[in-house]
Amino acid sequence: MTANLLEIRDLHKRYGPLEVLKGVDCDVRAGEVISIIGSSGSGKTTMLRCVNMLEEFEGGTIRIDGEEIGFTTQGGVRTRKSEREIARQRALTGMAFQQFNLFPHMTAVENVMLGLQLVRKMSRDEARAVGETWLDRVGLLARKDQYPARLSGGQQQRVAIARAIAMSPRLMLFDEVTSALDPELVAEVLQVVGDLAKDGMTMLLVTHEMRFAYEVSSRVIFMNGGRIGEEGNPREMFVAPKTERLADFLKSSRFN
Ligand SMILES: Nc1ncnc2c1ncn2[C@@H]1O[C@H](COP(=O)(O)OP(=O)(O)OP(=O)(O)O)[C@@H](O)[C@H]1O
Ligand SMILES: [Mg+2]
Repeated sequence: MTANLLEIRDLHKRYGPLEVLKGVDCDVRAGEVISIIGSSGSGKTTMLRCVNMLEEFEGGTIRIDGEEIGFTTQGGVRTRKSEREIARQRALTGMAFQQFNLFPHMTAVENVMLGLQLVRKMSRDEARAVGETWLDRVGLLARKDQYPARLSGGQQQRVAIARAIAMSPRLMLFDEVTSALDPELVAEVLQVVGDLAKDGMTMLLVTHEMRFAYEVSSRVIFMNGGRIGEEGNPREMFVAPKTERLADFLKSSRFN
């Protein structure tokens, strides 16, 4: 049996009085592509943000390659790890969001180079070479010296994805990376994500693109009210949902 790359156990997260994650369990093996679907407010983004320690969670554990993320638990006592350690662990995952957040005063390749130089301590030349390799992979080598304002939304998102992947994360987290894009730009970004999936990148993918989720996922998770409502392979989930809630959700999200 293969060990889990990511292991989430009984994850609990609240914002003040609002309990957002009510005990989530999830195992992801290397190379798996997990799509997370579910209605607005069901906790999809919060789950990804906990994996990346962008949110602190009150209960449960998250492990990447067996290493507990964010906290040390000993004898039932939970201690937050040092900021330095958390920063190191955060680099185990790469994240791309709906908003691309490129630095506007840096060119495409400089955006990709920044983390390689600051976090991976590469020389400028090394970082440029890696940056160009990844821009090439997302089809943007010819645009490497453009500033973000000169790129389309789809191109900016591809740079943002290249920037995250260039850091060699163990796991990629994608949160609705096509939601802010004009419809005609969605396909080029999904193509890039799909190619990464084919290359064996392990990923957790929050998406409203049901057709895409159906095609690329090894497994689909349906979040419902802070819990996993149903999970299974794409065929089971999209063609023969077991719960009424999932069936209703799929109807409302126009899967066809
Ligand atoms: N920083 C925050 N402070 C307070 N409440 C929050 C915060 N972030 C999220 N929430 C609440 O937590 C719940 C889950 O939010 P989350 O963003 O995880 O949902 P989601 O499934 O990603 O939804 P969507 O599909 O709209 O992106 C929502 O009720 C939301 O309003
Ligand atoms: Mg969200």
